[in-house]
Amino acid sequence: MVFIFRLFTFLALAGATLAQQDTAEDRCSKLPDKLILSKLTDPFTFYNKRPVRTKADWACRRAELAELIQRYQVGYLPSKSPTSVTGELLENGAFNVTVTEGEKNITFTAKITLPAEGDGPFPAIIGLSFPSITVPSDVAIISFPNDAIANQLGTSSRGSGLFYDLYGKDHSAGALIAWTWGVGRLIDALEKVPATKINAKRLGVTGCSRNGKGAMVVGAFEPRIRLTIPQESGAGGSACWRISDELKRRGENIQTASQIVTENVWHGAAFNSYTGQVGVLPFDQHLLTALIAPRAVLVEDNGGIDWLGPESVYGCQRAARSVWRALGIADRIGLSQPPSHNHCQLPEVSKPYVNAFIDRFLKDKEDVNTTVFYTGGDFKYEEKDWVDWDVPRL
Ligand SMILES: *[C@@H]1O[C@H](CO)[C@@H](O)[C@H](O)[C@H]1NC(C)=O
Ligand SMILES: *[C@@H]1O[C@H](CO)[C@@H](O)[C@H](O)[C@H]1NC(C)=O
Ligand SMILES: *[C@@H]1O[C@H](CO)[C@@H](O)[C@H](O)[C@H]1NC(C)=O
Repeated sequence: MVFIFRLFTFLALAGATLAQQDTAEDRCSKLPDKLILSKLTDPFTFYNKRPVRTKADWACRRAELAELIQRYQVGYLPSKSPTSVTGELLENGAFNVTVTEGEKNITFTAKITLPAEGDGPFPAIIGLSFPSITVPSDVAIISFPNDAIANQLGTSSRGSGLFYDLYGKDHSAGALIAWTWGVGRLIDALEKVPATKINAKRLGVTGCSRNGKGAMVVGAFEPRIRLTIPQESGAGGSACWRISDELKRRGENIQTASQIVTENVWHGAAFNSYTGQVGVLPFDQHLLTALIAPRAVLVEDNGGIDWLGPESVYGCQRAARSVWRALGIADRIGLSQPPSHNHCQLPEVSKPYVNAFIDRFLKDKEDVNTTVFYTGGDFKYEEKDWVDWDVPRL
């Protein structure tokens, strides 16, 4: 009897111990097979962990992000205006812009093509080099000579171009932010020369591929740009570094931060220290896009060129969109990502979206539907892998 009792006790204790182990295992969460070691950074939390709660908070968060992105990635815009900027309209739409800084000056030539009809002043699309999107015939085109402002001929062209003639070869600015400075001076000059017939309050910017990376940065940092249309810009433009690195680990042939700094001087030299560890950066490219808010952006993309990272672009711009959602203006950020097509050739399916954004934001037409977030890509993208913030109502 005693023996049976003891056996019973022993079994009961053993059972309890097993049961305890079961509950411990249940209580502790299991690691998923697929781990994302660094999610996208939260737009709605300041660097000091304070939450972003109001529109005024967003303006401060935007300023904080602009500082962080300049410090670690693109390099700095000059902190003060140049001594003077003048514009001179020459033959055939050539527009010479002269910028003087102290004893030095530079001149660059933008090319203005006005609509065939009408007296203006006209809204205009500034193309980095030239626009590859289809620009409506009642909108002017301004071709901006970004390569003259900062060369993009490979890593040896760091510090070469008109920007560096004024500010010195060792200036922190990479080519993308140097171009942004140049577009700013072009706008200064347009504001001063009514003979150009350009309405400087109705300006958009675009560019494709490497110049699309530039268009995104120009839109992000130049508040006088009302509409930004980066086209097939990939890494350093509308794709996120972290997502692209993960896709690379999974075997995709995709442009990443580590590759981009060996190809060209688009970013500041400071970025070189972070390209192997993009997860430590206090931002990613969704927050570069978000600098444009509350202004408008239409991301034109290509669902079929792996190198451009279409899945990364899709996830990145969804994440960016949460800022416009928080501001209650989600129809001011669009994505059009048709399936594979020739690089930098705008597909028919995208044209109505481009026209809608131009109608609404450069021609002030109301009642134009700019709600679009379209991908023709076939992705396994899961937002919960990358996004762990809730969208507040600011
Ligand atoms: C620009 O600098 C050159 C000397 O390098 C000078 O001859 C010229 O007058 C300057 N132009 C302006 C508009 O200041
Ligand atoms: C206009 O600028 C170009 C440089 O882009 C220069 O070569 C040309 O001499 C300038 N023209 C005038 C009339 O100043
Ligand atoms: C705007 O267009 C989108 C499709 O792009 C559609 O889902 C939505 O219902 C439209 N909104 C209005 C108000 O017509």
